[in-house]
Amino acid sequence: MSRFAEPQHPHFRRMNTSLGFDRRLWPQDLAGSRAHARMLAAAGVLTEAERDELLHGLTRVEEELRDGAFPFAEDDEDIHMAVERRLTELVGPVGGKLHTARSRNDQVATDVSLFVREEAAAAIERIEGLAAALIACAERHLDVPLPGYTHLQRAQPVYLAHHLLAYVWMLLRDRERFAFVRDRSVARLPLGAGALAGVNFATDRRMVADELGFAEVAPNSIDAVSNRDFVLDYLAAAATCLTHLSRLGSELVIWSSSEFGFVRMPDAWSSGSSIMPQKKNPDAAELLRAKAPRVVGHLTALHGVMHALPLTYNKDMQEDKEPLFDAVDTLELALAAAQGMVEGAVFDRDRMAQAASDDLIAATDIADLYVKRGMPFREAHGIVGGLVREAVERGVPLADVESEHLDEEARSLLSQASWLESKDSVGGPASGRVREQLAAAREALAAPPPP
Ligand code: ARG
Repeated sequence: MSRFAEPQHPHFRRMNTSLGFDRRLWPQDLAGSRAHARMLAAAGVLTEAERDELLHGLTRVEEELRDGAFPFAEDDEDIHMAVERRLTELVGPVGGKLHTARSRNDQVATDVSLFVREEAAAAIERIEGLAAALIACAERHLDVPLPGYTHLQRAQPVYLAHHLLAYVWMLLRDRERFAFVRDRSVARLPLGAGALAGVNFATDRRMVADELGFAEVAPNSIDAVSNRDFVLDYLAAAATCLTHLSRLGSELVIWSSSEFGFVRMPDAWSSGSSIMPQKKNPDAAELLRAKAPRVVGHLTALHGVMHALPLTYNKDMQEDKEPLFDAVDTLELALAAAQGMVEGAVFDRDRMAQAASDDLIAATDIADLYVKRGMPFREAHGIVGGLVREAVERGVPLADVESEHLDEEARSLLSQASWLESKDSVGGPASGRVREQLAAAREALAAPPPP
């Protein structure tokens, strides 16, 4: 018997079923069901024999799922119903007791929490791998100057190590965001909230929380089944991390052009052209550049789903999964690709050094020299701007401009190419500071992310 006299319309069935994507949650679903069965027996709701039959059946279900032998059925709406249906086929009517004191609403929130926790931990590991690769690359390029850019115009020289370390600090912040997701966003167990209003059995939620590794139980059953903040938090952390990677990808694209020639990308991360035999395209770096907006889109989509949604569970919330899964896969691939490219990139020290020896990028240093002699900075800025204009108009280095302002000290400043080492401020470009920063980055990476 059932509530329904008519079968589902095939289009509704297609729209409603989530099995095509949520089967990915089977490991978490089984973990949750095991903990639930053990707790029900401990609470006296199931006998120990019933518990053992359920646990044995769940092990067989797990084997089938792992081996790809699980017989999914036409009628399985989602992974939760598929597991329970198969369990009952395998162990008989006792299988129907597993869903005592539980709803798919607290079940799915628990499964997705477990999934997010594992994936946040995985993201942290991959971020650490990439950060370590960048640190190693920075260490190999401590003494390679290149122009630092603003507006993609040569601005002031820096060492390549300094530039690469900028990405390490971004990644360390990403790691903090994922640590928050792992340790805080999913700290509270939804299971035990029932459909929305708790359950009619004396269950032990603390016991389930301990088995599944939750620090606390969710204190409000209504919030527990309505909450998807943890998915939003994961997506936000992933979107920001991918935005960082997009900037790295972009710089690799620009730097590997013949115009810049700062870097040669490894063949393993490049492709050829179908028509132009000479081409070596930085496709991997371009794709790295392009991945962020898609995950930002997933974040926006889920905000759209959750926005103005009345409490408690609504089927809308099933739309949390595809964005989440795609974000997880995209982030994993992007971090691996970024690491591979950083490890294989070959930087052209001479091209970089040559670009950095353009004496126009010492303009600020000449101005600073006048300031040190007492001239207001604005006035110095104007004078040096005039010298630069003349150099550019005549197409000569700044050092070749005839001017009373370019006295001996100023000229020697231009010829020494010492503009980099003179900036000995904390976090700045001088060698000693970059070495200091390298050590600090190494230390930060070796320590766990701050709580
Ligand atoms: N497949 C559903 C989801 O992912 C599971 C929860 C269904 N609950 C319900 N009351 N229909 O959201």
